[in-house]
Amino acid sequence: MRVTPPGADTASSSTSSKVVLITGAAHGIGECTARRLCSHGYRVALTDIDPRVLTVAQSLGDGARGWVADLVDPEAVAGLVKAAHAAWGRLDGIVNNAAFQRERADVVAEPIAVWERVINVCLRAPFLMAKYGVPLMMRQGAGAIVNVSSIHALRAYPHSPAYDTAKAGLNGFTRQIVLEYGAYGIRANSVLPGLIIESEASPEQIAHYPVGRVGRPEDVASVIEFLLDDALSGFISGAEISVDGGLMAYSPEVRPPQPPLHPATSSASSLEASLPPSQDIPGPGDQRAAADDDSAH
Ligand SMILES: NC(=O)c1ccc[n+]([C@@H]2O[C@H](COP(=O)([O-])OP(=O)(O)OC[C@H]3O[C@@H](n4cnc5c(N)ncnc54)[C@H](O)[C@@H]3O)[C@@H](O)[C@H]2O)c1
Repeated sequence: MRVTPPGADTASSSTSSKVVLITGAAHGIGECTARRLCSHGYRVALTDIDPRVLTVAQSLGDGARGWVADLVDPEAVAGLVKAAHAAWGRLDGIVNNAAFQRERADVVAEPIAVWERVINVCLRAPFLMAKYGVPLMMRQGAGAIVNVSSIHALRAYPHSPAYDTAKAGLNGFTRQIVLEYGAYGIRANSVLPGLIIESEASPEQIAHYPVGRVGRPEDVASVIEFLLDDALSGFISGAEISVDGGLMAYSPEVRPPQPPLHPATSSASSLEASLPPSQDIPGPGDQRAAADDDSAH
């Protein structure tokens, strides 16, 4: 049963009144998400350990505020959530995007301090954000949390023991939020990006991606926006959405076809020759007939 607290302000579904706190917003996916949300009428509270977050916030005008904070510090996170809420009097979304990924060692060689830093930024910080942010959302009777995880949550990559562990843990933590606070109108989802870069990708990098390219920050930002918006994704909670151009869809034992089977430069006749005979492709009438026959959905 849904719990709606007395006086809860759940009436507005307009993005223009919504406030979203985004961590790790000084550059990359976080900055891109901030710019996208702001351009669509959200108010964005931005934070990062990197002071460049203040420049990003300033460039976005009245709809944005910036704070420099180290998310490893519980008091800093509590203060940040409070300040973000105080700025516009509400908190509708949290995007846990900040990460620390400077591991260069296997498990045996991993310095304990590096393990702890990675776990604290990638896993404990989202816990702290929820610890202090969820009560505010419960009071409103609504809220959306998007945890930026990784395909590293699904597959082990060399020399990143803490990062892979933290991202897998983050997916589990997302499910805890779903279970415990869904009744208060709070949704939580994980986004699992593949390689996301703003620079030119090498042919070797692209070769792994069935869609024929690696990702850009916009690819992730658009999914985050979708998951924040109750009108678009109100029945999605606990999902793990890979934003990876198909990378996780195939077995590591195979490689996507290289070069493409049907390059855009193919002549019409060679493309035609590689397609199944036209009588094997059902026309609109055939599809209708097939649908009429099929009552077992
Ligand atoms: N770029 C990719 O290929 C990729 C792939 C999979 C997942 N991801 C995830 O996407 C998210 C964003 O990645 P990105 O590539 O844009 O990275 P990025 O390095 O541009 O952004 C991460 C931000 O987190 C901030 N940060 C680090 N430690 C912090 C701390 N203690 N307190 C506050 N802020 C801190 C950094 O300063 C940085 O601005 C991360 O969670 C990352 O794990 C990225």
